[in-house]
Amino acid sequence: MDAISKASKSATLTIGNESWDLPVMAGTIGPDVIDIGKLYGQTGMFTYDPGFTSTASCESQITYIDGDAGVLLYRGYPIEQLAENGDFLETCYLLLYGELPTAAQKADFDFRVTRHTMVHEQMSRFFHGFRRDAHPMAVMVASVGALSAFYHDSTDISDPQQRMIASIRMIAKMPTLAAMAYKYTIGQPFVYPQNDLDYASNFLRMCFSVPCETYKANPVLARAIDRIFTLHADHEQNASTSTVRLAGSSGANPFACIAAGIACLWGPAHGGANEAALKMLGEIGSVDRIPEFIKRAKDKNDPFRLMGFGHRVYKNYDPRAKIMQKTCHEVLGELGIKDDPLLDIAVELERIALQDEYFVDRKLYPNIDFYSGITLRALGFPTSMFTVLFAVARTVGWIGQWKEMIEDPGQRIGRPRQLYTGATERDYVPIARRK
Ligand code: SDX
Repeated sequence: MDAISKASKSATLTIGNESWDLPVMAGTIGPDVIDIGKLYGQTGMFTYDPGFTSTASCESQITYIDGDAGVLLYRGYPIEQLAENGDFLETCYLLLYGELPTAAQKADFDFRVTRHTMVHEQMSRFFHGFRRDAHPMAVMVASVGALSAFYHDSTDISDPQQRMIASIRMIAKMPTLAAMAYKYTIGQPFVYPQNDLDYASNFLRMCFSVPCETYKANPVLARAIDRIFTLHADHEQNASTSTVRLAGSSGANPFACIAAGIACLWGPAHGGANEAALKMLGEIGSVDRIPEFIKRAKDKNDPFRLMGFGHRVYKNYDPRAKIMQKTCHEVLGELGIKDDPLLDIAVELERIALQDEYFVDRKLYPNIDFYSGITLRALGFPTSMFTVLFAVARTVGWIGQWKEMIEDPGQRIGRPRQLYTGATERDYVPIARRK
């Protein structure tokens, strides 16, 4: 990292009659940070922040979110401009290299990714060990983890060349594995990638084509999928990215680290929310039942939450949700779906929630998962595949953050401490004397 993050001022911590000065570091934008790296050595105390709500786990130059303003920047470029003007592989290049590619760099990057889309033929055997009704996210955790067995010998993470090859391989092979996971669950043959197709069209073809007829991806739908990938590409130190960083901090194989990220993303509080949000809209069933569910969401004794609402960082509208809503209308329009009852429920639910003081007071707005489920269902994906598509897109963010962590000269293995409230030391009691 460059000099940006050097200490600019200090904070004084006073406990009883002792004080300590702690360095304060400033980034280019966003909150300053208090460097507590030496706090335990100086004070014998830890800080305590279980959900990391006030903790910066690393220095990064990849993505920045202003949660109050509803701003998302990839390497400084607003998500709205990237989603509107570029394509997903351009965003992948930007996240990995830090700059937008020239035409020649983009053509070379597309070529390199395209030529890594096939997986080893023996990978297909992993799928046949699963029941056909296995959740595709379980299949993705296993198959991406299995990739580490195919490339472990050629993944010397201290070699920048091999780190980049591993990154390209991950970006290239995720759509192929995702399509294989889908095909396996519906009992259709796997479809090989086709090198003359763009990334999104290739993915749609691997998912929806069958050997007995020719398939041509609808360009409007391919553009929509490509944009959805861009929206989901990276998002600072979210739970799954933090998982990949922590796994990678031990020097683990990058493919195994991505598998850990997929496992974390699966949770309904994180990437699994798009699947949960669509199920919730189905459970609500009609606009006149919305008040009943709003009431449940506010009831502390009811574990029900409005899936697709709220965010740890965004305390304003998630900028991705706005673009996702626009994409949703584009896809429904292209498919001639005039009135999707779930979309009617979603729009009315959003309208009611955004007027309700419970949601207003807690700054709960729709997040990216609120409209993505309706869009992906219209595109023909089953609900169980929604988070898989999120994982395909987020792979570039995971691998980009993993690379940044490995290349950070100050990088050490992550090893948080704890506040221990368990039993104090006591002697063993032989079983014969236990009551
Ligand atoms: C993603 O981190 C990322 O960047 C994630 C992500 C990415 O791109 O990587 O953006 C992707 O994960 C988006 C979030 C998808 N999850 C959901 O839509 C699930 C529903 N949302 C909630 O589970 C919740 O909002 C979280 C998990 C997203 C955020 O949880 P926080 O920050 O821990 O918030 P909280 O649980 O402390 O909630 C604060 C208050 C609480 O009420 P009080 O205790 O103050 O009375 O808001 C309430 C919560 O009960 N609340 C909700 C709610 N979300 C928060 N109440 C009803 N419905 C909700 N959805």
